[in-house]
Amino acid sequence: MVLTVFTTSHATQALENTTCKTCHPAIYAEYQHSMHANASTVRDAIHKAVWDKHPMKKQGNYACAKCHTPSDHTLQDGKGLPVDNPVQRSEPISCQGCHRIKSIEKHAQANTNILTDKKKYFFSADKVKKGSRVIFHEERRFFGLIKSTTGSPYHDIDYSKEGYYTGAMCMGCHSHKQNSQKFAICDLEVKQGDSTATCISCHMPQTLGALANQKHTATHAYHGASIHEMTPEDLSQYVQLSVEKRPKGFAVLIHNKATHTLFPQPLRLNQLRVTIRRGDQSMTLPSQSFVRVIGTAGKATMPWLADAVIKDTTIKAGEKRKVSFDTELKKGDEVIVEFGYYLVNPAVAQKLGLTDAGASEFRVLTHKRFVF
Ligand code: HEC
Ligand code: HEC
Ligand code: HEC
Ligand code: HEC
Ligand code: HEC
Repeated sequence: MVLTVFTTSHATQALENTTCKTCHPAIYAEYQHSMHANASTVRDAIHKAVWDKHPMKKQGNYACAKCHTPSDHTLQDGKGLPVDNPVQRSEPISCQGCHRIKSIEKHAQANTNILTDKKKYFFSADKVKKGSRVIFHEERRFFGLIKSTTGSPYHDIDYSKEGYYTGAMCMGCHSHKQNSQKFAICDLEVKQGDSTATCISCHMPQTLGALANQKHTATHAYHGASIHEMTPEDLSQYVQLSVEKRPKGFAVLIHNKATHTLFPQPLRLNQLRVTIRRGDQSMTLPSQSFVRVIGTAGKATMPWLADAVIKDTTIKAGEKRKVSFDTELKKGDEVIVEFGYYLVNPAVAQKLGLTDAGASEFRVLTHKRFVF
C-alpha cells in the first residue's frame, strides 16, 4: 500500500532533460548511451545485483543515490529506496546533475558535489570565453535591421569554473569511495604526471555535430561516456601494446597513458591474452590477469565487508607493465595480443547471480598483431 503511494508521487517528477533535448539534440542522443544515463538499479543490472545483496537495502537507505541517481530528488540524504520511475529510468544523472556542480567538497569517505541554487544557470567550458558569464541578450545593428543574439535563450552560462576545463568537476563522484569500515573499496588513483590529457579530453573528445540548434559549431564534446557500449574509438589509443623479443622468449609491454589506474573497480577483471600463429598452427598462451582483490583476513569478500587489499596487480597511471613469456619466437611467427576485460570477474558474477552474457563475456579494449 505504502509502496503504491510512493510510486505515484515519484512518477510525477518532471524529466529535466526533455527541455535540453529541444535545443541540444545531438548531445541528448549521445547521453542516452552513456553510463550516466544507465547508473540506476533500474537500468544497470550490475549495480542492481550488488545493491540487492547490500546490507543498506534492509535498512531502507539507498546511500548510493548521491552518485548514482542524484537527479531523483525524492531520494536524497539517503532516505528511501529507489523505485522504477522515469527519472531512474532515463536521467539518473541528468544534464543538470553535472552542469550545476559549483564546487566539490573533499571527504575521506567520498567527496560531495555542491550544486548552485541559481535556476537555469549552468557551468561549462570554452577556452575563448573562459572566465566569463554569458547572459542571453539580443543586439540590433544597422538601425535595428540585423538582429544577433548571444548566449542561450533558456539559461545563463558560467565559463569561470576551472573544474570544467581540468575534469576536477568529475571527482565529486569518481575520486574514491570508502565502505563503513573506512576502507577504500574504489580509488581511481589519479596521477597527472607530465600528461596534459584530462578526464574531458579522453572521455569527452570533440566529435562532429552542432552543440545546439541555435549554435552551429562543427563539433561538440562527446556525451556518451562509457567504456563498453559506445566507446569512442580513440579511447584504446591510451593503452599502447608492444612486443620485445628476448634471448629466451619474449615480453609484452603495456603502456598505460591514462592518468588513472586501469580497471580500478573491484568487480572488473582485466586480462592480457596472447596467441601465437606459426604456419597453420595456433598456440594460446596462459592469460595474464590484472586485478584488485579486496576482502578480509586474506579472503576475498563483497565490497561492504572488505577491510584490506588482498592482491593488487592493476596497472597504475603512466605505468609501463612488462609481462614475460618463455615461449621462443621463430622467424615468421605472428603474435596476436589482446588487452581487455570482463565487466564482472566471472568468479564474482557467479556469487552475484549475474548470468547474462553482457557481464560474463570478455571484451577487447585494444589489440595488436606483430610479425617476427
Ligand atoms: C531554447 C534553447 C535551449 C535550451 C532549452 C537549452 N539550451 Fe543550452 N544552450 C543553448 C544555446 C543556443 C547555447 C549556446 C550559447 C552560446 O554559445 O552562445 C547553449 C549552451 C549550453 C551550454 C554551454 C555550451 C558551451 O559553450 O560550453 C551548456 C552546458 C548547456 N547549454 C546546457 C543546457 C542544459 C543542461 C539544458 C537543459 C536543462 C539546456 N542547455 C537547455 C540553447 C538552449
Ligand atoms: C554525479 C556523479 C557523477 C559525475 C559528476 C560524473 N560521473 Fe561518471 N559515472 C558516475 C557513475 C555512478 C557511473 C557508473 C554508472 C554505472 O555503471 O552504473 C559513471 C560512469 C562513468 C564512465 C563509464 C564507466 C564505464 O564503466 O563504462 C565514464 C567514462 C565516466 N563516468 C566519466 C566521467 C567523466 C569524464 C566525468 C566528468 C566530466 C564524470 N564521469 C562525472 C557518476 C558520475
Ligand atoms: C562517491 C560516489 C559513489 C557512491 C556513493 C556509490 N558509487 Fe557506485 N560507482 C561510482 C562511480 C563513479 C562508478 C563508476 C566507476 C567505474 O566505472 O570505474 C560506480 C560504479 C559502480 C558499480 C559498477 C557498475 C558497472 O556497471 O560495472 C557498482 C556495482 C556500484 N557502483 C555499486 C554501488 C552501490 C551498491 C552503492 C551504494 C551502496 C554505490 N555504488 C555508491 C560512484 C559511487
Ligand atoms: C589519457 C586518457 C585518459 C584520461 C586523461 C582519463 N582517462 Fe579514464 N579511461 C581511459 C582509458 C583508456 C580507459 C579504459 C580502461 C579502463 O576501463 O580502465 C578509461 C576508463 C575510465 C573509467 C572506467 C573504468 C572501469 O573499468 O569501469 C572511468 C570511470 C574513467 N576512465 C574516468 C576518468 C576520470 C574521472 C578521469 C579524470 C580524472 C579520467 N578517466 C581520465 C583513459 C583516460
Ligand atoms: C558527466 C557530466 C555531464 C553530463 C551528465 C552532461 N554534461 Fe554537458 N558537459 C560536461 C562537461 C564537463 C562539459 C565541458 C566539455 C568541454 O567543453 O570540453 C560539457 C559540455 C556541454 C556542452 C558544450 C559542448 C562543447 O562542445 O563545449 C553542452 C551544450 C552540454 N554539455 C550540454 C549537455 C546536455 C544537454 C546534457 C544532457 C543531455 C549534458 N550536457 C550532460 C559534463 C556533462
